[in-house]
Amino acid sequence: MTDLIVDNLKLRYGSNDILRGVSLSVEKGQIVALLGPSGSGKTTLLRAVAGLETPFEGRIAIAGKALFDGAARTNLPPEQRGLGLVFQSYALWPHKTVFDNVAYPLRLRGVSGSEVEKRVAKALDSIGIGHLGARFPHELSGGQQQRVALARALVYEPPVILLDEPLSNLDAKLREEARVWLRRLITELGLSALCVTHDQVEAMALADRILLLNGGVVEQQGTPEDLYDRPKSTFVAEFMGTNNRLLGVATQVAADRAVLSIGEERLEGLSCGPVSEGREACGIIRLEKIRLAPGPGHNRLAMTRLAEMYLGDRYEVVFQRGPLTVRTFSPTRLEGGEHWVEFPPEAFWIGSR
Ligand SMILES: Nc1ncnc2c1ncn2[C@@H]1O[C@H](COP(=O)(O)OP(=O)(O)O)[C@@H](O)[C@H]1O
Ligand SMILES: [Mg+2]
Repeated sequence: MTDLIVDNLKLRYGSNDILRGVSLSVEKGQIVALLGPSGSGKTTLLRAVAGLETPFEGRIAIAGKALFDGAARTNLPPEQRGLGLVFQSYALWPHKTVFDNVAYPLRLRGVSGSEVEKRVAKALDSIGIGHLGARFPHELSGGQQQRVALARALVYEPPVILLDEPLSNLDAKLREEARVWLRRLITELGLSALCVTHDQVEAMALADRILLLNGGVVEQQGTPEDLYDRPKSTFVAEFMGTNNRLLGVATQVAADRAVLSIGEERLEGLSCGPVSEGREACGIIRLEKIRLAPGPGHNRLAMTRLAEMYLGDRYEVVFQRGPLTVRTFSPTRLEGGEHWVEFPPEAFWIGSR
């Protein structure tokens, strides 16, 4: 069942088009990540769904009920949309205890005393901070404050929760742990969530589906695997994972294949988005896809080892040939000098720059 539908949403600030026709849907029990570079319109889209910004065209509906409809001039205020919101700065009330922070949305809705007790206790327990009810925000760690903000958004069991970079205030290690419990929490409670992040690893870890925004339009949407393994443009290919970007000219463009000519070198790959014969193009390949080969062969270049860094579980190696520099991994330390570096064509995406 579809919980949230956004259809052809358009929004502008002054004369700047920020959302230029965005459509998406979130199924019940699903987490959808809104991913994109800074300024691509993620927060604006989330705020429009929450009712904090007003689009000039399009439609937003939850479980079939219109929250916004440009044509019918429907525009419910935020408090009538019944959505749970967690924003980047989670702004707990400093002079209220954890219990009172979480109880606030219930009291606002006129829920009675004993019912408040019961529901706050349930919300705090569900995210593992049942013992912290009497504390004040300044007596909590960043991770605990984050959980309180989430409990506050979940306590009145909204059908959809909207999260804007909910983990960005946590340090790297806490963030990785938080991804796990956040995902479990949302799926166990059977909630639907739309979660903004600029971090592609976070998006892949958290979400059932990813929607990648670029300049106010959806560049691609699909499962994490779709975006990572089957990008529809070099923008998507480059946004996901860690990549090498090789500049050249597209030659021998045919069906889904192309060749990238870099000076005297020729590398075959998959065409990715529009590519035109004879035009400047780029080739994108993930660090982990480059292979070291024992000798010459198709799509292999002899390259000089420039540098090597020990990463603990493997080495990261930098190779160079003329103006071309690429990075990859090696399980073992490599000798200096020349090596054969292979660019598997099925993992080398050629498209516009
Ligand atoms: N209140 C505002 N008034 C005018 N422009 C804004 C406002 N809020 C955001 N913008 C602009 O809208 C664009 C998208 O912003 P935002 O949705 O915050 O991007 P993201 O969350 O993807 O980083 C940016 O160019 C930003 O400068
Ligand atoms: Mg933002």
